Amino acid sequence: MNTTIYYFSGTGNSLKVANDLSNQLTDSKIVKISKNNMSVFNDTQSDKIGFVFPVYNAGIPVIVKNFIEKLQINKHTYVFAIVTCGAMAGVAPNQVKKILAKKDIKLAASFTVFMPGNDQLLYQPASEEKQNKLFINEKEQIYKIASAIKSSQHFEYKVNFIMSAVYNFGYKATFKPKDMGKNFWTDEKCIGCGICSKVCPASNIVMYEGKPKWEHQCESCLACMQWCPQKSIQYKKSTVKRGRYHHPDITVTDLIQK
Ligand SMILES: Cc1cc2nc3c(=O)[nH]c(=O)nc-3n(C[C@H](O)[C@H](O)[C@H](O)COP(=O)(O)O)c2cc1C
Repeated sequence: MNTTIYYFSGTGNSLKVANDLSNQLTDSKIVKISKNNMSVFNDTQSDKIGFVFPVYNAGIPVIVKNFIEKLQINKHTYVFAIVTCGAMAGVAPNQVKKILAKKDIKLAASFTVFMPGNDQLLYQPASEEKQNKLFINEKEQIYKIASAIKSSQHFEYKVNFIMSAVYNFGYKATFKPKDMGKNFWTDEKCIGCGICSKVCPASNIVMYEGKPKWEHQCESCLACMQWCPQKSIQYKKSTVKRGRYHHPDITVTDLIQK
């Protein structure tokens, strides 16, 4: 039984989950979802297919939605989704279920993995102590998830009707990532290293006269800001005094792999 795990990740949480899961499954591989990798249209070879991604504003990242919509999958493939989140998966699993249902494919199982929240536009990174607790918990969760996937178990993600309506409304009303780029800026610490441009999974940052310039296809993953070695990238005024986060086991090289 071979498994392909498609992942999208800004700060490494979802990549870590994809890696850890892949290490526990025999005959499995991970494939990055990014602007440069949107030409994977057909996966009728994998016996099992998984999507691992972060929740954004209670829903699915746009690039992940587009990727799943395009991907051709055999009807009887065992398909699962793993949503990494700081607090709640919202309606992200339901959105995957709907996209697949349009192709007459069933989402066999959905899982939620709690990781440090990385939305530094809204809050500080979690304390090291809290992060470490989450990392220990992640290992235990992945062990259980791997065992469920190995035995092709079915798990339905449930969110009650009222919360589902609230999350759907919140996602539609507040999640407008494309033009977020216009609010990023660099302070005097920027040395023009270009790491922001390399880690951007949307290829939304070009280096112009030695400084990053954001275009109009932002996915809101915050990779640029979180991986900047100088901590020089800011979003409006909200991030000036906040720390930065990325998963400690993931490197820039891991993140930019093809
Ligand atoms: C723009 C944005 C919106 C987010 N919205 C949510 C949310 O609605 N609920 C939640 O629990 N976490 C939310 N998060 C936190 C991430 O989903 C979480 O930290 C995730 O594990 C990050 O994964 P990554 O490191 O693979 O990018 C949000 C993060 C960002 C950047």
